[in-house]
Amino acid sequence: MCGIVGYVGKRDCVDILIDSLSKLEYRGYDSAGIAVFEEGKIVVEKSKGRLVDLQLKMQDNNSRPNGVCGIGHTRWATHGEPSDVNSHPHGNKRVSIVHNGIIENYKEIKQFLENEGYIFESQTDTETVAKLLDYYYEGDPLTTIIKTISEIRGSYALGIIFSDFPNQIFAVRKDSPLIIGLSNDENYIASDVPAILKYTRNYYLLESNEIAVISSDNVNIYDIHKRPISKEVKVADWDMDAAEKGGFKHFMLKEIYEQPNAIATTILPRIVDDIPDLTEAGINVESLKQYKQIFIVACGTAMHAGVVGKYVIERMARVQVHVDIASEFRYRNPILSKEDLCIVISQSGETADTLAALKLAKQMGAKTLAIVNVKGSSIAREADNVIYTHAGPEISVASTKAYSVQLAVMYLFAFELAFAKGQISKEECKRLTKILMTVPEMIETMLYSTEACKFAASRLINSDSLLYIGRGLDYALSMEGSLKLKEISYIHSETYAAGELKHGTISLVTEGMPVIAVVTQNSLKEKTISNIKEVKARGAKVIMICDENMPEDKEVADFMITIPCIEECLTPILACVPLQLVAYYTSVLKGLDVDKPRNLAKSVTVE
Ligand code: F6R
Repeated sequence: MCGIVGYVGKRDCVDILIDSLSKLEYRGYDSAGIAVFEEGKIVVEKSKGRLVDLQLKMQDNNSRPNGVCGIGHTRWATHGEPSDVNSHPHGNKRVSIVHNGIIENYKEIKQFLENEGYIFESQTDTETVAKLLDYYYEGDPLTTIIKTISEIRGSYALGIIFSDFPNQIFAVRKDSPLIIGLSNDENYIASDVPAILKYTRNYYLLESNEIAVISSDNVNIYDIHKRPISKEVKVADWDMDAAEKGGFKHFMLKEIYEQPNAIATTILPRIVDDIPDLTEAGINVESLKQYKQIFIVACGTAMHAGVVGKYVIERMARVQVHVDIASEFRYRNPILSKEDLCIVISQSGETADTLAALKLAKQMGAKTLAIVNVKGSSIAREADNVIYTHAGPEISVASTKAYSVQLAVMYLFAFELAFAKGQISKEECKRLTKILMTVPEMIETMLYSTEACKFAASRLINSDSLLYIGRGLDYALSMEGSLKLKEISYIHSETYAAGELKHGTISLVTEGMPVIAVVTQNSLKEKTISNIKEVKARGAKVIMICDENMPEDKEVADFMITIPCIEECLTPILACVPLQLVAYYTSVLKGLDVDKPRNLAKSVTVE
């Protein structure tokens, strides 16, 4: 949800700002802009559209600034349409800012500033902060920033430059991420690690309400009382290649192919003597036994991983699990107590709704566990315990490998809990864990042949709408299949529990409508097949995802995509792969921007 960067050093900064922003475009790509000190003056260049549009604009107008200190922004529009005037940086000749977040009380501030004679150009909330900084500025940036942040409410990561301080960047954040990259004779700010990885691995993690003053050879950090703060230098352990496409046409495809490795890296260190061991995350068998109920709270794909988790935990450990969409959880007045566990799941660790839900669960006394991919992210820091998934950076907006590693952790958790509660024996726990350990290799084999998925995609591209159906875990998985397809192919799709169709939705089925049926649960196969026949009888063209033992039968499926046979509870972690590939190839065949679907952003740090 917007990416911000900054550079101060000895080198020409425009290329560095553009390059860093290109690593953050996953956070939004409605517009891009930079503000650079050129001969002591702030020069701003910005453009609606992608980063490349900004580059072309500067090239066409011969307006590329030169300088060694600047800030940059890539936007996901919240307040005000995507347009040149709403693009960041905002400000004037004296102060210029880039912002990630939302200023909740911007209307009041705007009113106040208009009364003071300020004239606003954009519809953004950010412009109010730029003008408020200008209003308070009397020559001392630190005092100005402190006064300003004491007036604004909401979330923000701000990169700020003042024309009186041409070789310094000021940065402050609250509830939106910001790191400060550290190198020799040059320093950086960025919303996320991939933006600086090419230049340095060392960084400071700025905490809420800490203010950084950054020059080429110095970084000083202060609290809101201007007291200096010393910080620990963090070292990024992400692989540079992981943030590049590495020969794949799209990040999404690369990330689908990274799943075997991501799952292995996530589960293997947490398996001791063939059973899950989550003690590293502060979870032990005794503590696991005590929870009366489990709440799993997340958004989008991460929430779908939670739905699979619910089915598996309830089935195996016989503990009641509730799954909530984070934005609903907060406002439905949930009933939690200190006897409950709240698990939040998030790839980015920055999703505002999930973070707020986590805080609420803590307030209510529940124990909290975060399953997060990004180290040191806000959610990871807020939760009582953290299990990190080791998917590496996920760049494609549509989540794939983050989902499968979240499932992998759900399985580790469910097996350990089931064993702790005496619902399964140690032998059974070992047997299941060993099967889980074979998943990476199985997925690797599945990824050798993707022709069936390409063919299935070719059957979807001319459809306006389709259905995903399944029962039990197949239903839980279908939710993710449907989301993946609609978000990158723009084809409308819905997921239905196969047995529920006849209660209304089946009236949507017309001649030729594609229906993707997931049929991997042995115990439910016959029932789902009956439901498939019901839609086929009404003209649906059925693509069935099933295991390789399923006999071909044209009366059931027009086309089959098979997965290897595996323990019933583990099928989602295999069957998610063809669902991801079908969505991917549909988007490719439609000629769409797979990695950056319209209207979306990777990290949603607003409510
Ligand atoms: C869909 C997708 C989103 C995210 C959701 C939560 O492909 O990626 O639905 O899953 O925005 O994001 P995180 O996991 O970062 O909290």
